[in-house]
Amino acid sequence: MNEKVRQVRIFDTTLRDGEQTPGVALKPVHKLQIARRLDALGVDSIEAGFPIISDGEREAIRSIAKEGLRAEVFGLARANKGDIDAAIGVGLKYVHTFIATSDIHLNYKLKITREQALDKAIDAVQYAKSMGLIVEFSAEDATRTDRAFLKKVYGAVAGAGADRIDIPDTVGYSTPFYIAEITRDAIEATGLPISVHCHNDFGLAVANAISGIQAGASCAHVTINGIGERAGNASLEELVMAIQSLNFGETKYVTNINTRLLYDASQFVSKLTGMKVQANKAVVGDNAFAHESGIHTHGVLSNPLTYEAISPESVGRKTVIVPGKHSGAHGIYAELAGYGISPNKEQVKAILDEVKGIGDRGGHVTDVDLLSIAQRVMRTQEFATLVRLEGFSGATGIGTMPYAFVKLEIEGKEYKETAYGNGPVDAALKAMQKAIGKRAHVNLKDYKLEAISGGSDSQCEVTVVVEDKFGNEAHGKMKGEDITITSVNAMLQAINWLMIKDMINRRRGG
Ligand code: KIV
Ligand code: ZN
Repeated sequence: MNEKVRQVRIFDTTLRDGEQTPGVALKPVHKLQIARRLDALGVDSIEAGFPIISDGEREAIRSIAKEGLRAEVFGLARANKGDIDAAIGVGLKYVHTFIATSDIHLNYKLKITREQALDKAIDAVQYAKSMGLIVEFSAEDATRTDRAFLKKVYGAVAGAGADRIDIPDTVGYSTPFYIAEITRDAIEATGLPISVHCHNDFGLAVANAISGIQAGASCAHVTINGIGERAGNASLEELVMAIQSLNFGETKYVTNINTRLLYDASQFVSKLTGMKVQANKAVVGDNAFAHESGIHTHGVLSNPLTYEAISPESVGRKTVIVPGKHSGAHGIYAELAGYGISPNKEQVKAILDEVKGIGDRGGHVTDVDLLSIAQRVMRTQEFATLVRLEGFSGATGIGTMPYAFVKLEIEGKEYKETAYGNGPVDAALKAMQKAIGKRAHVNLKDYKLEAISGGSDSQCEVTVVVEDKFGNEAHGKMKGEDITITSVNAMLQAINWLMIKDMINRRRGG
């Protein structure tokens, strides 16, 4: 086969369109930290923000522009001198300028004619070029713009000196077929490199971006985790994995993305933006490489190719076998073996019956539940005691910062730590992480608190998920009356399981 390799550029707009997600606002320092991650990930362009909008935005973009990143750093500007000057003012060399071209936007938002919009687009591009900028031009709402007019606008801005053209599917209205058509129009009218900028209102953002690329676009605008206005933008991780892995006949698409860093970047952006990643999200969701049903776990344990179209390691992840009502004996054996526990056949059957019973009652079985069932069925107490809590105290109040003290004993050695936090639980868990940090890297990945009964004396249930630097995870789940102490105990349980997993992996040379 005569393979044709096509390089696709990744224009990341997490820090601009992504930050336009309702409820998301990033401090300048966090924008800079995300920009560094994006650069390490290998994106070609970073749209750092919209300089005109605020002082903090300008501070953030300025710091990113002077960071010396390998990626090009862009700022967004409406097609006017003020916005372009704001981009120049923060030290940018690359500007993404736009004006709406659809009749809906012209009539109801801008209240100008098509010809006036065309003039503004030409003026803006000429001005930005006269100021020495590299210019990418977007016709906002391109996919709802009259097709002949869109082609005319693109041809005119190319004539005015634009370096690149972007096709925004602003409200996710396009079909894969139509975006391919207008991509070909834009190439024909301009001869310039074309980008596609697809929103996800109909869940088609990635499909539309791929179709634009197949039709000749050389760049996709994307965001980490697909965050963005309304239903978001095309997600970077999905687009990159799709174009690099799927079958496009004789064409092979490549990007500069280091896919092994995808999960890490996803987690980082989720943490700083406060936007949780949905569990069933492709590539980076909690369930993307998790298997529960007996048929699937058996298949994956025999050969991951049976039910994993993407190798989890290639995106910085691992296969996870989850116990539940669909589980089979293979999965239970494999999960317990991960903790060095080897039940016999009858014991596995008894454990499996209990797991299925919980599932039939609508319950969710974590690895902690599985381990405590195994402990009971196998009549042993010997699991999970590498780390012991020898002492704990904490305080909170008004006018004082909550703090906590912990004393841990890890394999016979004592570790003491104090920490401050946003509240007593935060302080306690930070102190535990500091103490354990002297022996192992443990990151608190998730924390959930539920009240079991009403009233101020109600029981609570705390679930924590911890993770080591290899992406191994363990859960801790405890019930109790005191939220802080219950949280400490849940954390202790999770740390123990994580350390046991780590110890077993090291023994196996993994
Ligand atoms: O979706 C959109 O139209 C945009 C423009 C600013 C390009 O984000
Ligand atoms: Zn957009």
